[in-house]
Amino acid sequence: MTLIIRNVRPGDIPALIDLAAETFIDSFGNYHTPENCKAFIAQSHNERVYHAAIADPAKLLMVAERHNELLSYLYAKPTTLPVPHPLTNAHELSKIYTHRSAQSQGLGVRLLTEWEDWAESRGITDLVLGVWSENNAAQRFYMRHNYKKISEYQLTVGDVQDTDFIFHKSL
Ligand SMILES: CC(C)(COP(=O)(O)OP(=O)(O)OC[C@H]1O[C@@H](n2cnc3c(N)ncnc32)[C@H](O)[C@@H]1OP(=O)(O)O)[C@@H](O)C(=O)NCCC(=O)NCCS
Repeated sequence: MTLIIRNVRPGDIPALIDLAAETFIDSFGNYHTPENCKAFIAQSHNERVYHAAIADPAKLLMVAERHNELLSYLYAKPTTLPVPHPLTNAHELSKIYTHRSAQSQGLGVRLLTEWEDWAESRGITDLVLGVWSENNAAQRFYMRHNYKKISEYQLTVGDVQDTDFIFHKSL
């Protein structure tokens, strides 16, 4: 079963939106109302966001695909997190999700490594990401790949305020 890691193409966007919605609800649907989930998905995962990401050379939007099925995706961009100085030019892992049927098969680390290599080849020296304070599994995944917590902030999901941790890694 050949796994393909590649950049997202415009024709992938409908399937990517479906994957993003399904994985978000699967991961966080128990913690947020259906209305909050729907609002967050509509705002973060839409044609406009993804077409803009593909067109912007400062952003990276990648998928892991097997048998023509999108199983995992990563979206990274110049950071908009409230990072402490001097990390304001850092690149940010905005989203990484693997479909539940394909987790713990190494897809996440393949995408993470692609992003790190992409960033390093562009002279980026600082990587950051935000992760929900209660998402212990994702925190463990990031710490295993040498990311460390540097601060925290409040994130609004629908009408709920969550605490997110900011993790950092130097390249
Ligand atoms: C976090 C997430 C993206 C990781 O994706 P993944 O594809 O499962 O990642 P990997 O398979 O590379 O690694 C996951 C675990 O599987 C293990 N693993 C990796 N390759 C493996 C393999 N070939 N065989 C068995 N286990 C493997 C790793 O040890 C890793 O353990 P760790 O999480 O304790 O570090 C995924 O779990 C996910 O989508 N979670 C829900 C959404 C989420 O929380 N996203 C992050 C929001 S900040």
